[in-house]
Amino acid sequence: MRRKLVAGNWKMFGLKTDLGEIEKIAAAAAANPQVDVALCVPFTLIAPAVAVAAGLPIGAQDLHEADKGPHTGCISGAMLAELGATLTIVGHSERRADQHETSHDAWAKAAAARRHGLKVILCCGETEAEHNAGRAERIVQSQIEKSLPDLAGPEWLTLAYEPRWAIGTGKTPSLEDIAAMHAIGRAKLRTMVGDAADGIRILYGGSVTGTNAEAILATDNVDGALVGGASLTAEKFVPIIEAAARVSR
Ligand code: PGA
Repeated sequence: MRRKLVAGNWKMFGLKTDLGEIEKIAAAAAANPQVDVALCVPFTLIAPAVAVAAGLPIGAQDLHEADKGPHTGCISGAMLAELGATLTIVGHSERRADQHETSHDAWAKAAAARRHGLKVILCCGETEAEHNAGRAERIVQSQIEKSLPDLAGPEWLTLAYEPRWAIGTGKTPSLEDIAAMHAIGRAKLRTMVGDAADGIRILYGGSVTGTNAEAILATDNVDGALVGGASLTAEKFVPIIEAAARVSR
């Protein structure tokens, strides 16, 4: 059985004054050992977060595809690993939209993360226009096909299905739609990595809160959640960890 993973994505939020939240989240993670918890923070907070996280895995939200080189302002997988990060998000829809990243970029970044021993949360998901046009299935299949690195395996790869129109909007798909999209993701993984697909976790992301988490996490093929806004404080994030613990009993 796949263990649930509840991962927070702090995006461009968080200063050292917020480290107390990380300490409280780490304590809640330790109190719910049947669930995996991780927090992806801004680059600037990785080292201080690792220092207070008491074993809670701390990750980044992006990295450069090269190991080093003349890339002003960029951060490599080696640098993340040196700071103590153990995972990174790749291909988040905000980077696809704001930095024009493609699935090919996500592929190269996932491979770079892997070279430095970082686990990867690879994001996919359709836009609202694609959703309304009935193209979600094809878009997500194509994103997975183009961004999945060779030899992807459950030890280091997690997929996150995040419909873009659900991110930060308070809107979520129906549970039936979530189940259908996750089944499509699982089937696509199976065509690419065979039986290893059964071990790869598929997280749902997009407006997950303490209120809707339990139902979403109990849905077929949902192996956890990638949480943005509701991961910024322990008060909002801990109920999601607890919901994952309840459905893992
Ligand atoms: P949200 O963000 O929970 O604020 O909708 C999710 C994400 O972008 O990973």
